[in-house]
Amino acid sequence: MLAIGLTGGIGSGKSTVANFFADLGIIIIDTDIIARHVVQSGTVALKKIVDHFGNEILNKDHTLDRNKLAGKVFNNPEEKKWLEKLLHPLIREEVVNAKKRVTSPYCVVVIPLLVETLPNPDIDRILVVEAPQSLQISRVQHRDQRSESEICAIIESQATTDERLAVADDVLMNEGSLEKLRADVNELHKKYLSLSGTSQA
Ligand SMILES: Nc1ncnc2c1ncn2[C@@H]1O[C@H](COP(=O)(O)OP(=O)(O)OP(=O)(O)O)[C@@H](O)[C@H]1O
Ligand SMILES: [Mg+2]
Repeated sequence: MLAIGLTGGIGSGKSTVANFFADLGIIIIDTDIIARHVVQSGTVALKKIVDHFGNEILNKDHTLDRNKLAGKVFNNPEEKKWLEKLLHPLIREEVVNAKKRVTSPYCVVVIPLLVETLPNPDIDRILVVEAPQSLQISRVQHRDQRSESEICAIIESQATTDERLAVADDVLMNEGSLEKLRADVNELHKKYLSLSGTSQA
């Protein structure tokens, strides 16, 4: 099973690109969704997080307050390491299981922090989505009503464009229209079908 790891900085267009692949019938494994799944109510991981950070990490309805957790680990390498040690194996297990169920000729695994967490044994190629920083900021501002300084702090905490490009097998430059991005995804799809040994219909 050919697995494409899709990554890029905040607001670069990962989810948009993943949706375009899904429109082509390609199975998407989204580690953002899996990361939510493994800390759902009743999971061992959530219990460990509460034991570690206290009840204040929960919302009123006893679900995990993800923003608060993100705040706890954002500038705290030790807490971040603790959390990653807990969650990464659980996320990985779900990715491995999801890959076994893939019915399309290849799959796309969305991993926002792929470059920051290499090596990754579950993917065969790295697809990087890049957008100029000014577009990342304006698109995320428009989508989330977040402040520019908040978005910049996240960009600062992520891998740099150069670091991403250094490990990329394929790059999508997302600085034009959505139509252009979709056309570029269609081209990559042909390449991935060919790499997967599937002839195009
Ligand atoms: N080429 C484009 N033209 C216009 N808007 C775009 C384009 N690409 C993405 N967007 C918009 O920019 C926003 C960010 O894109 P998207 O959510 O796909 O990025 P992302 O990399 O998944 O972000 P995150 O890191 O937060 O998950 C979305 O609202 C999306 O609709
Ligand atoms: Mg996204």
